[in-house]
Amino acid sequence: MQYKLKIGKSQRLYKIAKGLIPGGTQLLSKRPEMFLPDLWPAYYSKSKGCRIWDLDGREYLDMSYMGIGSCILGYADKDVDGAVKKAVDRGSMSTLNAPEEVELARLLIGLHPWADMTRYARSGGEAMAIAVRIARAASGKDVVLFCGYHGWHDWYLSANISHDKALDGHLLPGLNPKGVPRYLKGTSYPFRYNDAGNFLKLVKRFKDRIGVIVMEPVRNDPPQKEFIETIARAAKQLKAVVVVDEITAGFRLNTGGAHLIYGIKPDIAVFAKGMSNGFPMAAVIGKAGVMEKAQDTFISSTYWTDRIGPAAAIATISKIKKENVPHHLGKIGLMVQEGWKDAAAKNDLVIEVSGIYPLGHFSFIYKEPLVLKTLFTQLMLERGFCASTVFYASFAHTETYVKRYLDAVEESFGIIAKAVKSGAPVKYLRGPVCHAGFKRLV
Ligand SMILES: Cc1ncc(COP(=O)(O)O)c(C=O)c1O
Repeated sequence: MQYKLKIGKSQRLYKIAKGLIPGGTQLLSKRPEMFLPDLWPAYYSKSKGCRIWDLDGREYLDMSYMGIGSCILGYADKDVDGAVKKAVDRGSMSTLNAPEEVELARLLIGLHPWADMTRYARSGGEAMAIAVRIARAASGKDVVLFCGYHGWHDWYLSANISHDKALDGHLLPGLNPKGVPRYLKGTSYPFRYNDAGNFLKLVKRFKDRIGVIVMEPVRNDPPQKEFIETIARAAKQLKAVVVVDEITAGFRLNTGGAHLIYGIKPDIAVFAKGMSNGFPMAAVIGKAGVMEKAQDTFISSTYWTDRIGPAAAIATISKIKKENVPHHLGKIGLMVQEGWKDAAAKNDLVIEVSGIYPLGHFSFIYKEPLVLKTLFTQLMLERGFCASTVFYASFAHTETYVKRYLDAVEESFGIIAKAVKSGAPVKYLRGPVCHAGFKRLV
């Protein structure tokens, strides 16, 4: 398949959107500028499995983010959608509560025996804000030490008030905390993942003021034993609450939180995108002694009570377990990572591959990596793939799809090698260079 890239209905609609919706989209990672400015098919009319159709009816294989990591099983999964349709038919909202909340609580606690209780929300960032609120309430102390990305809320963004580059390695360079009260200055500080020394420097500096430690269990590299042990020791000494953010890592390596694999022992774990296959749902699970503090502070919202979220989560988790989805994600992710390496070697291209298998990515090791990244997306789009330098594996990705994708990768890498040799790869682009994206801390 070879598409001639053109400005169609999707791109025209996005131009209109930018005048109506500040920032164009609700999620930075869905901005077309992050992929292929002007030519990325900004909107979809339909999605199924790992296929997407744009507003002009063009079909693409999604070998990129799969709903920015929210669709582990694939788009419009029939089992999850079936459970959701049932929930809708029985009334997704009422003055009374949905009993699925209790069923899901049992399911999550069964998978994480260290936890006793759970609260719910509907998105990752807000669930993290709840977790930090509960953790601060439980420890009685304000200062949060964290590494990684955890959402857009004030507690997180406030790190950039004292030092405007504090979050650069964790999220986006130049994040502006405008609108975040200046009074929050000095309440959140980042440390580098897998860098026990860096973490200990903060511990030495803020000592007893530290009430909360937040981290992802894994992103690119598994956590080192020394790093985990240092955090556990400090948390115990400081009586700080440890929050593990499983929003992206959870349910990809195992049925449950990745912290279970790595021996991290949190007080709270937070799940969202991995747990409900694209339907809004989030859970904050934790030890009773900590979670009970949710009763001493006001945490409450109407839409956290709908039936669709827990129904989708129960169906998704059940399928992840029944089909051993993490095994599939590992196999497919490995195939892709090996395929990238092979295709690069065959074309004498220098790339660096990293990430756990279900969440792999690569970088072009050249002077203008963003130009080459944009060119890759352009070439792959012409071949019918939504692709970037990231691949989030889903249960819907089969080996056949991956082989088709890797053939196109090899072809595209060949052209990129030529573009590099030409000395002016930017001339191969049909539009502007993509914006720098979420770059997570390695
Ligand atoms: C580790 C982590 N925490 C928090 C979030 C924020 O979740 P959401 O986008 O649902 O608010 C994300 C989303 O990318 C994430 O990867």
